[in-house]
Order: sequence, then C-alpha cells, then structure tokens
Amino acid sequence: MFFPLSDILSFLVINTLFLSSSCICKKVDNKTIKIVIDGEKFDYPTNAIPVIVLACNRVTVSICLDSLIKYRPSIARFPIIVSQDGDHQETTKVIQSYQNEIHFMKQILLPSEEKKEYKGYYKIARHYKWILNKVFTEFKFNTAIIIEDDLEIAPDLFEYFLGTYPLLIRDPTLWCISAWNDNGKSNLIDTNSPELLYRTDFFPGLGWMLTRELWFELSPKWPTIYWDDWMRHPQTRKDRACIRPEVSRTKTFGLNGVSEGLFYDEYLKYIHLNDKFIQFTKLNLTYLLRENYEIEYVEKVLSLPTVTLSELKMNTIQQKDAVRIVYDTKDKFLKIAHFIGLMEDIRYGMPRTAYKGIGSVFYKSRRVFLTPSSIWSAYDLTWTNRSSCHIFSDVGVTRLFILILFILVC
Ligand SMILES: *[C@@H]1O[C@H](CO)[C@@H](O)[C@H](O)[C@H]1NC(C)=O
Ligand SMILES: *[C@@H]1O[C@H](CO)[C@@H](O)[C@H](O)[C@H]1NC(C)=O
Ligand SMILES: *[C@@H]1O[C@H](CO)[C@@H](O)[C@H](O)[C@H]1NC(C)=O
Repeated sequence: MFFPLSDILSFLVINTLFLSSSCICKKVDNKTIKIVIDGEKFDYPTNAIPVIVLACNRVTVSICLDSLIKYRPSIARFPIIVSQDGDHQETTKVIQSYQNEIHFMKQILLPSEEKKEYKGYYKIARHYKWILNKVFTEFKFNTAIIIEDDLEIAPDLFEYFLGTYPLLIRDPTLWCISAWNDNGKSNLIDTNSPELLYRTDFFPGLGWMLTRELWFELSPKWPTIYWDDWMRHPQTRKDRACIRPEVSRTKTFGLNGVSEGLFYDEYLKYIHLNDKFIQFTKLNLTYLLRENYEIEYVEKVLSLPTVTLSELKMNTIQQKDAVRIVYDTKDKFLKIAHFIGLMEDIRYGMPRTAYKGIGSVFYKSRRVFLTPSSIWSAYDLTWTNRSSCHIFSDVGVTRLFILILFILVC
C-alpha cells in the first residue's frame, strides 16, 4: 500500500485549519475573492463559480474549452481554471493558446508506485484532490463546477447551474448538481421536456457542481483511487441526492480515456446533448426540494398503473399515459434494464439515476417508471453488478494509518 507524503501533509493541514479555527470563511473579504496564480493577482466576486477543467494528455481539450467559452455568460462569474496533470507538451500548448480566456495550472508530481494497470485511476483521484484543495482551501471560492476534458456542453449549461444553485444551497440533502443523465440516450428520453429535472441518489458526475463546505467534508477522507464509486458508498453519501436533467447538458466525445472507450462505442456516444435553451433561473424549481419531492414525486409515481415486462415487450399496454413496471429482485431489474437499454450496473444497491429505487425512462413515447416492489426503505447493499471491495479496503488502511500518525503528532 502506497500513499504519498503530500496526502498526509495536506490532511494534517486541513485538519489543523479546521481544529484551530472555524474562521477560514470569516477571513474572506466578502466583496471579492483574491487569487494568485503564477504570481499574478486576480479579483473575483464572491458569487463567482469557477469551472475547473481537468486535463491531462488529450489535445482535444480544445473541444471542451471552445464550447465552454462559447456559452459562458460572464467571465467574472465563471472563471475557467484548466488544471493539467502531468507535462504533456502538446496539450500544454493547446491550453496556453487560450491565453486570458482561462487560468492555467499544472500539477506535476513525482511518478507514483501504484500498480500500472490502475495507474490512471490513481492519478485521477489525486488530480481532483489537488485542484479542489487549490480552489476551495487556497483560493476560497464558495462553489465550483467540475468538467472533464472530454466533455462538450449544452448552450444552457450555465443557466442550468445558476438556476439550480439556490436548491444546492438551501437543501442540505442535496450535495451536487449534475449536468448528466446516465440513461440519456436519445431513444430513452423525452427531448420535448428539456426543462424536466430529477433528484437522483446515484452520483452521476460528468459535469457537476459542489460547494466548498462539501469539499471540506470529503477532502480529509478522499480516496486514492476510484473516487466516483467512493462517492456512491452509503458512508460517503449519507443519503444525499444530486439533481440531474432529463436531457443531458454534457456529452462525452470519448477518445482514449482511462477506461479506454469501454462504454463509449456501446453507450456514451448515443447520449443526447440538449440543444434547446431553457431559462432555468426563471423557473420555479421548488418541486425538487426534498420536502416536496419526496411526497409529490414518489406518490405520483407509486399511484400509476403497473404493467409487466411482456406487456411492454409486446406493446399491449391499454393506458395512454405514464405507467410503472415493478422489480423486486436484482435479476428482474437487470432483465428490465437490459430489455429497455438502460445501464445495467448497480453500485451499493443503486441502479443508475435511481431515486429511492425509482428510475424514469421515456420508452416508445411513453413515460415508464421502474419502481421497487414493496414500500421502499433502503438500497440492498448485496445488489451489485461489479465487485468493488478493493476500493474500501484501500481507503480503510490509509485512514487508519493517518489516524495513528495524527495521534502521534498531537
Ligand atoms: C461584509 O461583511 C460584513 C460583516 O459580516 C457586513 O457588515 C457587510 O455588510 C458585508 N458587506 C457586503 C457588501 O456584503
Ligand atoms: C413554486 O411551486 C410550488 C409548488 O411546487 C408552489 O407551492 C409555489 O407557490 C410556487 N412558487 C411560486 C413563486 O410560484
Ligand atoms: C452487469 O452489467 C453489465 C453492463 O454494465 C452487463 O453487461 C452484465 O450482463 C451485468 N451482469 C449481470 C450478472 O447481469
């Protein structure tokens, strides 16, 4: 088991900051956020939401940056910070060509000793930690958006984040706003409902917004690998949800990712990128707050007539409008998901896009909800369609060691 000294140091620094004062925020001038990058000073309003673009060795980061710059409504409100992991020269050149449109930061660390086949995944987790510490601890921004370098964005992505921002601040049971629908293939969504949003228990990532407060909670226990599945673990998630759209506001153009096009050809390339501009800041989105959603959405769905998979298959459904299809076992869920074309992986009992076990899909011009059978109480952790135990044993050992070290130091 290997973990860098820098991880332990940053853990100690963050914890010491926490313990010594609750004043990290009080010290911040409430009119501007002052940041220094490579000796240059910049001022931003306190409501600025930096867009962090995580780059590495793909020159196609230009596709991502072009779309961000094209649709960004304000440079002051949405500074773009491109963070490059490593020293890939061609990519550096591409990023530098954007000059004053963006800020450029580079993380160059010593080569690590992790197992080669997982190396990319270790590097990603480390890169997230490094740049999020910069943005929240050093620069003291209050909120940030994270975009990976293989994503292009919809015209209303910024409106989407601005419109949902008040929900994120107001509702403690929301911990992220994601621009991504895991089941957002064009044949599985209602492209005529681009304003439709949901809560989801399954952390989607892929273009997402978080607060500084959340980062201070997560950073001391940030894992060394597979950070996104770690986010989905019940101990990390603590029953919090994200907002996600019916129609994705990001789309991956793939090409040579760490997962090497695993899902791309089969799945990701069919994700539909929204092309209609929705003025989310003018919409009443209070239906997404927990106290409303938990009652109205869940009750509405559970009151719908049920259909069987064979009725769905044969297209012999009598009702004209929305229906639901019930699953009571993991195999039944997988069978339905497979037939409809939904993503079949399950993490810690959660199917992708599920909220309280409920999934929503637009199948052959009809809304179909996948619902658990009895009254839902919790995800069944034994339902999983991917072994991921190594993630936790790894984090566990690191934590234990850091704890011992911390006790010794004190
Ligand atoms: C800045 O913070 C101080 C103290 O909290 C407050 O009195 C003042 O009104 C704030 N100024 C602005 C512009 O928000
Ligand atoms: C927003 O919608 C909720 C219902 O979800 C309603 O109770 C509330 O009055 C609406 N607010 C406004 C300002 O229209
Ligand atoms: C698990 O999910 C994958 C797709 O992610 C699917 O191809 C496979 O059939 C599933 N496994 C089981 C046991 O159903």
